[in-house]
Amino acid sequence: VSETPRDGATILTQAASIVGPLIRSRVNGLPPEIRHVAGLHFGWWAEDGAARDAELDGKALRPALALLACQAVGGAPKDARPAATAVELVHNASLLHDDIIDHDTLRRGRPALWAVKGLSAALLAGDALFFAAVHALAESDRSAQTMPVLLRSVQLLIEGEYLDTLLEAGSGIGEDRAMAVAAAKTGELFACACELGALAGGADAARAHHLGAFGHRLGIAFQCIDDILGIWGNDATTGKPTCSDLRSRKISLPVATAMAGSTPQAQALRSLYRQDGPLREEDCLRAVELIEQTSAKEATARRAQRYSADALRHLALARPCPTAAAELAVLADFVMIRDR
Ligand code: FPP
Ligand code: MG
Repeated sequence: VSETPRDGATILTQAASIVGPLIRSRVNGLPPEIRHVAGLHFGWWAEDGAARDAELDGKALRPALALLACQAVGGAPKDARPAATAVELVHNASLLHDDIIDHDTLRRGRPALWAVKGLSAALLAGDALFFAAVHALAESDRSAQTMPVLLRSVQLLIEGEYLDTLLEAGSGIGEDRAMAVAAAKTGELFACACELGALAGGADAARAHHLGAFGHRLGIAFQCIDDILGIWGNDATTGKPTCSDLRSRKISLPVATAMAGSTPQAQALRSLYRQDGPLREEDCLRAVELIEQTSAKEATARRAQRYSADALRHLALARPCPTAAAELAVLADFVMIRDR
């Protein structure tokens, strides 16, 4: 890490340029047909195999966290490369499955893989990327320490995603339930990125714990903002269809908050969500109106602020090296102010 902290965009672009080639070489190691569909997901080539974009798609937040957590405990950035690669591969694997589960047809501004190649291809490409992640970490130093952390996080991720589907099915709607989903499905992989990075850098248990807790809180803050963008974001910047969460009657965090309480708006929103099948366009607009009237957007943003502040408290407890700490704080800011 240089003396002057980099800005958020630079940190993320440089993390992407470090892990991009590593991910690509993992994908290149897959057998040919599954390699082809995995590369389609990343946008590296078109269906006919013609080269497209060579850059790593997505924000590369998790790899950036892993690389910086390693440096925060005095490790060399290269020590965290396998961890950074593994968390980004798990993330992409989980998105392939998530878009199927959510019936979402757009990801990063392109058709979701399942919408182009079908359910089987996308499911199996997700499986391949997940095991490519395990492979990357298994071949790294300190894997006896890091592997259990990755494997446990993936189990919690799966639990979080499953809880999310239960919420959608209408069982146990509530803010606490929605927060538990965010903590598991997003907080866990952020925590994992930071903890793996710290362990790769030689952190003791206490520092690894606090960096993991930093990532966990930051991941929850990230999901709060993600859910805000899911309703009020611009699909041209997020690359995901705005209002798809509402259309599919998803209990995202602002919705859970808006539904809590006994105001007429909360009741009206609950009854809108009780209908079968996807919400119609006019019902989506009505839902947005009701949510806005409850100030649930502001409440969710405040919640994100609280988690971000708590994340920074854990960062300080990890006694991080100053420049890496400053850059982790820059990333925490990026999470809060992003529009994509
Ligand atoms: C996106 O949530 C989804 C996640 C953060 C986690 C998904 C986890 C799994 C599918 C289980 C793990 C599976 C494997 C193979 C490792 P979202 O739908 O709120 O976000 P979005 O708007 O970006 O779709
Ligand atoms: Mg989704």
